[in-house]
Amino acid sequence: MAPNAVITGWGMYAPERVLTNDELSRMVETSDEWIATRTGIRERRIAADGETATTLAVNASRDALAVAGADPLDIDLVIVGTCSPDYPLPATGVLVAQQLGATRAAGFDLQAACSGFLFALATGTSFVRSGMYRNVLVIGVEVLSRFIDWTDRSTCVLFGDGAGAVLLSASDQPGGLLGVDMMSDGTGAEAIIIPAGGSACPVSPQTAAGNGHFIHMAGADVYRYATRQLAESTLAAVRDAGIGLTDIDQFIYHQANLRIINSVGKQLGIPDEKVFVNIEKYGNTSAASVPMALVEAVAAGRVKPGDRLLMAAFGAGYTAGSAVLQWTADPQRAFLAPGSQTRLGQPQRQLEPAAAG
Ligand code: ACO
Repeated sequence: MAPNAVITGWGMYAPERVLTNDELSRMVETSDEWIATRTGIRERRIAADGETATTLAVNASRDALAVAGADPLDIDLVIVGTCSPDYPLPATGVLVAQQLGATRAAGFDLQAACSGFLFALATGTSFVRSGMYRNVLVIGVEVLSRFIDWTDRSTCVLFGDGAGAVLLSASDQPGGLLGVDMMSDGTGAEAIIIPAGGSACPVSPQTAAGNGHFIHMAGADVYRYATRQLAESTLAAVRDAGIGLTDIDQFIYHQANLRIINSVGKQLGIPDEKVFVNIEKYGNTSAASVPMALVEAVAAGRVKPGDRLLMAAFGAGYTAGSAVLQWTADPQRAFLAPGSQTRLGQPQRQLEPAAAG
């Protein structure tokens, strides 16, 4: 029988530097009140000089390995979901494997924008279920602060940096992904785009002068698309799992906008207490947002063995992905693992969740 791919380790890393809405209101014409009520975001983390997608991913991965009690040499494959890699080439996955000391592992990047972690989770699970690999490190990481026009108030208030990682391991026990939905729709290609720097529009003095290397976004179009697509994708994954929406114990959505999350919850009739939200602290960390929320949901005692979690994201492309995952690990492992205590155990300021209409 094909093995299951269960999560045996998990970790996250958020850069130390906190950028608050009030600070942003001194940089562009905005206010804490506008940002908090339109998005739910109160602050975000910004990578320090010298921090990159690789260093953030390595920090999160070390925690995941410590929680699993795994050695870097156990890892067969590293998949990094990111749209803000260190370089166009080589792949960040290669650099992460090297810095972890995972010298047996193959590494590659997977680009599906904010859906990157969900797509990578489905991909990693397939490798384990096929019998090809036993331990796959799946990472979502972004340093989008380097791809933002800090004078454009319509985008610079939204994004933040961070990383989340899980170790998927082969198991004969039930658990892991029960259902999946992945979609892409290139009709939305222009709605969220970094127009310059690829083969369509190589970097030149003109593209740099026109801010072509930054994120450009038609926010209202994305908002409309996301609210519809996230709800549809949720239902598709739950159908694929052969269960009902009420069988889901916790919903962990991409933390892009609290109003989007609330709208999806309302459309689907999901009780608020089943929806995990941490957008107020980190903003939209793109591919990192779902694994960071997962790690914090586990740390907050919101997830116990046997629980069924629905994780879902949407992003540039458009892309969307949802997964129903049965959690099997003991959440306490995170607090017992020596390497992980420093990050998960660090005292975190409690922020009042922003009111959203
Ligand atoms: N502060 C103050 N005013 C602002 C700001 C700001 N930071 N940003 C925009 N405004 C203004 C606009 O200029 C506009 O003014 P106008 O009416 O005079 O033209 C007004 O506020 C309303 O703008 P809208 O765009 O209609 O505001 P909306 O309520 O739609 O909120 C937002 C904008 C938050 C961007 C919303 O559209 C959104 O969240 N969209 C989804 C974005 C997203 O989730 N992207 C994720 C995918 S990203 C990825 O995959 C990498």
